[in-house]
Amino acid sequence: MNSYTDLQTGLAAAPKTSLVTGVAGFIGSNLLETLLQLNQHVVGLDNFSTGHQLNPDEVKTLVNLKQWENFQFIEGDVRHSLADISKAQTLLGYSPAFDIVAGISEAMPWYIGKAASL
Ligand SMILES: NC(=O)c1ccc[n+]([C@@H]2O[C@H](COP(=O)([O-])OP(=O)(O)OC[C@H]3O[C@@H](n4cnc5c(N)ncnc54)[C@H](O)[C@@H]3O)[C@@H](O)[C@H]2O)c1
Repeated sequence: MNSYTDLQTGLAAAPKTSLVTGVAGFIGSNLLETLLQLNQHVVGLDNFSTGHQLNPDEVKTLVNLKQWENFQFIEGDVRHSLADISKAQTLLGYSPAFDIVAGISEAMPWYIGKAASL
């Protein structure tokens, strides 16, 4: 057993509802497939800025009908949700970026600076 198999066993024993942001993207649609195959409920959010309907459509072909019915899709922008990421600026000292490359290049100096000050 490792932590991933422990997680799978735990989820199978007590299914949960997960929110997958960016569900029409590469990582999100792969996560969607994995969670549905574990008989989890998934609410997926995407604004199709870089993602494509093709990705969840492909997932539909990879799970059974009952698993697919556990998926609810919401088209929308995560920045319009109740989550107020502007608080991150106050708490962390930087604002998370939604673009993965910009996000990492902005976050890494912050983490490195934080680690150096410990
Ligand atoms: N075959 C492969 O190996 C392969 C294919 C594609 C990508 N990749 C890699 O995967 C990484 C990128 O994957 P990813 O899944 O992070 O990017 P992605 O662009 O595929 O997915 C991001 C998703 O988030 C959505 N999104 C963005 N901003 C949003 C917002 N404000 N509100 C709601 N939805 C929003 C986009 O529409 C998109 O569907 C990169 O490292 C890339 O090189 C690998």
